[in-house]
Amino acid sequence: MRIYDIIEKKRDRHPLSKEEINYFVQEYANGNIPDYQISALLMAIFINKMTDDETFYLTKAIIDSGETVDLSSIKGMKVDKHSTGGVGDSTTLILGPMIAACGVPFAKMSGRGLGHTGGTLDKLESIKGFNVNLSRSEFVDIVNKINISICSQTANITPADKKLYALRDVTATVDNVSLIASSIMSKKLAIQSDGIVLDVKVGSGAFMKNIQQAESLAREMVRIGNDYGRNTLAVVTNMDQPLGNAIGNALEVKEAVKTLKGEGPSDLEELCIVLGSKLLVLAKKVSNELEGKEMIRQTIENGSAYRKLLEMVRYQDGDISMIEDTKLLPTANYILEVKSTTTGYVRAMNAEKIGKCALSLGAGRETLDSKIDMSAGLVLNKKIDDFVEEGDTLVYIHTNDMVKGQEVYKRILDIYDIGDKNLRSQKLILEEIKY
Ligand code: URA
Repeated sequence: MRIYDIIEKKRDRHPLSKEEINYFVQEYANGNIPDYQISALLMAIFINKMTDDETFYLTKAIIDSGETVDLSSIKGMKVDKHSTGGVGDSTTLILGPMIAACGVPFAKMSGRGLGHTGGTLDKLESIKGFNVNLSRSEFVDIVNKINISICSQTANITPADKKLYALRDVTATVDNVSLIASSIMSKKLAIQSDGIVLDVKVGSGAFMKNIQQAESLAREMVRIGNDYGRNTLAVVTNMDQPLGNAIGNALEVKEAVKTLKGEGPSDLEELCIVLGSKLLVLAKKVSNELEGKEMIRQTIENGSAYRKLLEMVRYQDGDISMIEDTKLLPTANYILEVKSTTTGYVRAMNAEKIGKCALSLGAGRETLDSKIDMSAGLVLNKKIDDFVEEGDTLVYIHTNDMVKGQEVYKRILDIYDIGDKNLRSQKLILEEIKY
């Protein structure tokens, strides 16, 4: 087989065979094909697209390029959830304890954040001592004991994806549904859970900016997951504004604790209840989503979900006093209140720009080795459709750097669009996609 022939075939709009896809993925991962040839192939794929079969073979070839994580020593049906990335998305910190409190194992291997979307591991590390670097046997033991653990991916999973994604990033070939779906799903399927719920975000703070793109990505991922033998479904959810009110690591942990106690923002709570009920159905804990929602709500009302978070923090060496009293979490030296200069309704805000404000305060990573300021971030006091009077606080800026804080203050005033009431109000759950 020759890579030249594969590029030519794709350039001329013919579908590639399973063997051809395996060949280029394997040989590229092993360093036997140069970047310039794979760049040409990626561009041919980008322009001519891939069939469903090609996308599935690509996903499988990427999985086969590395290790897989066998979770069979964890008792019961294991479920996983994945978000395609948004701003202020702390659902894993809430959903995991809820599911575990319902008696379903939540064994989650998570990643770190890059850019304006924060990672679950970074958020957990704002709790003093919290250990995300568990060995495989420690991870399995903890899940078998308390039904929940969240740790970092130690295994060498999907090495081909790391190389392909880095190359796509610099060759303008990221935005292709088959390439995105195979990249995301290979990483999910390499960890062998029984059921997966995907939260595909759409809007100004998401990777997918319009509903058509988000739906086709969701369909593609649901198809790949099920064809691979895993029960997979997706919801498409609104990311035209950050989820909840907090953006930033310790701030999001604090908000997660409030939500587990039933005192959190309604959009964040709603999304966790919806995703949670779907996970309970996949795990066959309940027979329908209505029952699932009821069971999840009870974990908030009876305190069992909150106690699960405490238990996980204790088992992973975190300081539980920071959960019992969230004022002990890292706090910033300064809090600036951004005051509205006008009266009206919040019509829109660009969630990505809000995320980038939090990033420039130090809440996220500009590059893989940037250091995160755990206490920095934003708390939104007004969201879309809220009424605002001149002088009302729109956002609280938490910062350790007054100069950066002042700069973000000005940017936020530009980001908030305040005027007449919107004719259509915001919906959080936009689509549900099943196989
Ligand atoms: N996230 C991924 O992991 N891969 C993509 O291709 C896009 C987003």
